Amino acid sequence: MRSVIDEATREIKISELFDNDTVRCPQAAYSELRSKCPVGRTQLIGTIMVSRFEDVAWGLRHPEIFSSEMDAQMKLGNPRPMIPQQMDPPGQTRYRRLLDPLFSRKRMLALEPAVRRHASDLIDEFAAKGECEFDEAFAIPLPCTAFLALFGLPISDLPTFLEMKDGIIRPAKFLDPPEPTAESMAAHGDAQVAHRKKTAEAMFAYFEEEIAKSQGRHRDDLLGALLTAEIDGVKLTHEEILDICFLLLIAGLDTVTATLGCNIAYLAGNPGQRERITRDPKLIPAAVEELLRWETPVTAVPRLVKQDVTLRDFDIKAGEVVTFLIGAANTDDEHFRNAQQVDFDRGRNVHMAFGAGPHRCLGSHLARMELQVAMEEWHRRIPEYRIKAGETPTYSPGIREVMYLPLEWNPS
Ligand code: HEM
Repeated sequence: MRSVIDEATREIKISELFDNDTVRCPQAAYSELRSKCPVGRTQLIGTIMVSRFEDVAWGLRHPEIFSSEMDAQMKLGNPRPMIPQQMDPPGQTRYRRLLDPLFSRKRMLALEPAVRRHASDLIDEFAAKGECEFDEAFAIPLPCTAFLALFGLPISDLPTFLEMKDGIIRPAKFLDPPEPTAESMAAHGDAQVAHRKKTAEAMFAYFEEEIAKSQGRHRDDLLGALLTAEIDGVKLTHEEILDICFLLLIAGLDTVTATLGCNIAYLAGNPGQRERITRDPKLIPAAVEELLRWETPVTAVPRLVKQDVTLRDFDIKAGEVVTFLIGAANTDDEHFRNAQQVDFDRGRNVHMAFGAGPHRCLGSHLARMELQVAMEEWHRRIPEYRIKAGETPTYSPGIREVMYLPLEWNPS
C-alpha cells in the first residue's frame, strides 16, 4: 500500500485516499491515519480529518463545536436546509422527537413482508440466468421499493424515484458527456448544479401532488403521519414536510444500496464466511452488523467548526470543515478486539456505521431490516456465487458503493 501521509508536510494525501485500490480496501489506510496522523489536514481541499474512535465519538457528540449547519457547503439543489440533518440541537431535537417514533423498530418491521416480497420478485428476474450485475439488478431497486412501501406509493413509481434520486446524488450521469474534460470542468460543474436544482423541483412537485391527493382521506403511511404530526401543538408546514422528504430520499436509498453491494462483494471474495451464513442463516443479523463495521459504506461525515478547539495538539479554527472518518473509527484496535478481523461471532458490536450523537441515523431500524431481509432472500435463492471470471468490481469514494459488481453462479 502507498502511504496516505505526506512525510514532509504531515498532510493527508487525498489523491491516495481516494485512489481506486484504497477505496476498494481502505482498512490499511485507516490504520496508517490512526497511528501516524489521527488529526490532520488534507492536501488540496484543506479540510481536517479525524480518525480515532474516541475522537470521532466525542466530536459527533459535541454539535455546539462541530455543527451540522452545512447548508452553504453541501448544496444538493435543495432551496432550504435539509430537516433534520443540516440543523443543530435544540431545533434538530424537536424534529427528531417527532420523527424517531415514525421510524421505530416496530413500525419498520411491519414493512418486512412487502420488502421480502419485492426482494424475491427481483431475484425471480435473474436467478435462472446464472449471472447479474448486482447493483443494477438488486441493490439499487430494493431500497427504492422499500421506500415506496414506507410512503404508501405505487410500485409503478419506481423509475420516477430512481431518476429523482440519481438526479440529485449523481447529476453527471444525465449530462452528455457525463465526464468533464479539462476545458469543460467549470461548465460541467454548473450543468450539474442546474440538473440538481431541476430534479429537486420535480421531486418537490411530486410530493406536493401526493399531499394534495391526500386531502380528506386517511393515509396509513409515513406521509399520512407527517401530515397529521404536530410539534408543540402546531402541524408541520408543507415546506417542512417537503424538506424532510427530500432528506429521506438522499439519506435512505444509496446508503442501503452501497451496504448491500459491499456485503455481497465481501462474501463473494470470502467463500468460507459465505458458506457459514448459508448453512446457518441465523448468523445473518450478526454478519450484517460486522460487515457494517468492517465495510462502513458511509465512510465519513463532515461538520463545520463553530469555535476554536484543540484535538490531540492540533489547533482547529472556527469556520474550518472537519471530516470525521467513521470508517477509520470502526476499525480502531483501541476500541475493538481483533479489529482487523471480520468476525461474525464478535458478540457485542458497538460500531458507528450509523453515526453517533444527536444526528445518529434516523433510518437505522429500516436499514437493518432491509439488509437482513435482502441477505436472507439472496442466500436462500443463490447460496453459491462468485465475482464473474476476469472482472473486477469498482468502488466509489465517499459513500463506498460497489458501482459495478458482476456476479455469476450455477443456476439450479
Ligand atoms: C445501511 C444504511 C445506512 C447507513 C450506513 C446510514 C448512515 C447514516 C449516518 C452515518 C448518519 C449520520 C450523519 C451525520 O452524522 O451527519 C445518518 C443519518 C441519517 N440517516 Fe442514515 N444510514 C442508512 C440508512 C438510512 C435509511 C434507510 C434512512 C431513512 C429512510 C436514513 C435516514 C437518515 C437520516 C434522516 C439521517 C439524518 C438524521 C439527523 O440528522 O438527525 N438512513 N445515516
